Amino acid sequence: MPAMIEDHYNAYPYPERNPQDERKRLITGSPSNPFEIDHHVFGGRRDWSKTIKILVAGGGSGDGLIQIAQGLTDANRPYEIVYIDLSTSTRKIAEERAEIRGLRNITFITGSLLDAADYGEFDYIDCCGVLHHLEDTQAGFTALSNALTDGGGLGFMVYAPYGRSGVYPLQEAFGALSEGMTPEERLKFGQTAFGRVPDTHPFKRNELLGDHNDGPAGFYDLLLHNQDRATSVKELNGYLTEADLELSSFAQPALYRLSDFLPEGFELPEGLSNVDQMHLAEKLRGTLKTHVGYANKIGQSKPINLNDHSLIPHFIGADPRQAAQVILKTGVLQIHLDGQKIGLTMPPVAAKLMGVIDGQRCLADIVKLSGMDRIAFSSIWAQLSALLCDYGLLLYSDLGKN
Ligand SMILES: C[S@@+](CC[C@H](N)C(=O)[O-])C[C@H]1O[C@@H](n2cnc3c(N)ncnc32)[C@H](O)[C@@H]1O
Repeated sequence: MPAMIEDHYNAYPYPERNPQDERKRLITGSPSNPFEIDHHVFGGRRDWSKTIKILVAGGGSGDGLIQIAQGLTDANRPYEIVYIDLSTSTRKIAEERAEIRGLRNITFITGSLLDAADYGEFDYIDCCGVLHHLEDTQAGFTALSNALTDGGGLGFMVYAPYGRSGVYPLQEAFGALSEGMTPEERLKFGQTAFGRVPDTHPFKRNELLGDHNDGPAGFYDLLLHNQDRATSVKELNGYLTEADLELSSFAQPALYRLSDFLPEGFELPEGLSNVDQMHLAEKLRGTLKTHVGYANKIGQSKPINLNDHSLIPHFIGADPRQAAQVILKTGVLQIHLDGQKIGLTMPPVAAKLMGVIDGQRCLADIVKLSGMDRIAFSSIWAQLSALLCDYGLLLYSDLGKN
């Protein structure tokens, strides 16, 4: 029930943040990375001289809000952001964080994302870790979709079932036993009972989960939530479709690649749609705790067009020149995917091309510097781009252009 959600987050704002920490670090992640938003929602070609209107729906203590507003402020781009959350104490933390950073053009609202359209039309809506907490998840997707401008899009994170194995039996048992308690009483009860749960319980065997060790807010959010429903890829696709949305991409599409699990030459059974294949990959992987991705209105997704050589590539997560040096030496790019270390074999020419990515040069500049002819470049770049984009390591955007 919504009232209970407010009680929960008013007592234990999530995630637990000390606004003073804004003076020493910026929390980054997906969704909510402006470069990623441009890449997935706007085909890497948003005109950033025009004010972008953004809704941060269920903004919590402000991680996504701060990342977006700081990114756009650093890039000196015009924006207007509306933050909305049901919880007043959570909002206070987000407000303090924004204040300490001197971030402007943010309107803070205490209310429900179900009323999103009342606050305007938005080019981008960010909704991380919220829709699975609604009484009616579909109503949430639909309300956000209805608040999008033509051509706008949604960045989302929703819980996925298999990586959270063990969570739901504990949530259900603690919930049934703590009805009528205050949040503080529930926390005390839950922590005591949890201490008596055997180490062989699937939750305690699940090495992927750690929020319960991160203080009261983490414990409460993971194990004492009374409205928390994980969503498979197939269910997610159903919610999106019903809301007139389509998945433009997951942030790391490689996580959903069925072919990674199949013997070479294996022929898929007939009639498996893309969603069916991702659904099977999710089951085979078995470790996904969340689905992070972007959606546009049906028919409005804008895939990256590599024939457009004015696109500006960005290498994410490391200095591209350093990565290029390592590739030249070892022939391998080490990456982390879903807690796994993976070595991607890369040809020397990839290192040469990556070494000139600087967030300013467009593909046409890179062709010139490479000394390759356009046809050879296009073919190699298409392979390199697909490989890196699949892991969320390469994004296209004009955002950082001087
Ligand atoms: C798990 S927290 C996520 C916070 C933030 N988006 C993040 O990822 O750090 C969920 C937040 O959603 C808010 N929330 C839940 N239902 C909501 C609704 N219907 N409208 C607005 N906010 C809601 C809660 O108050 C809480 O602050």
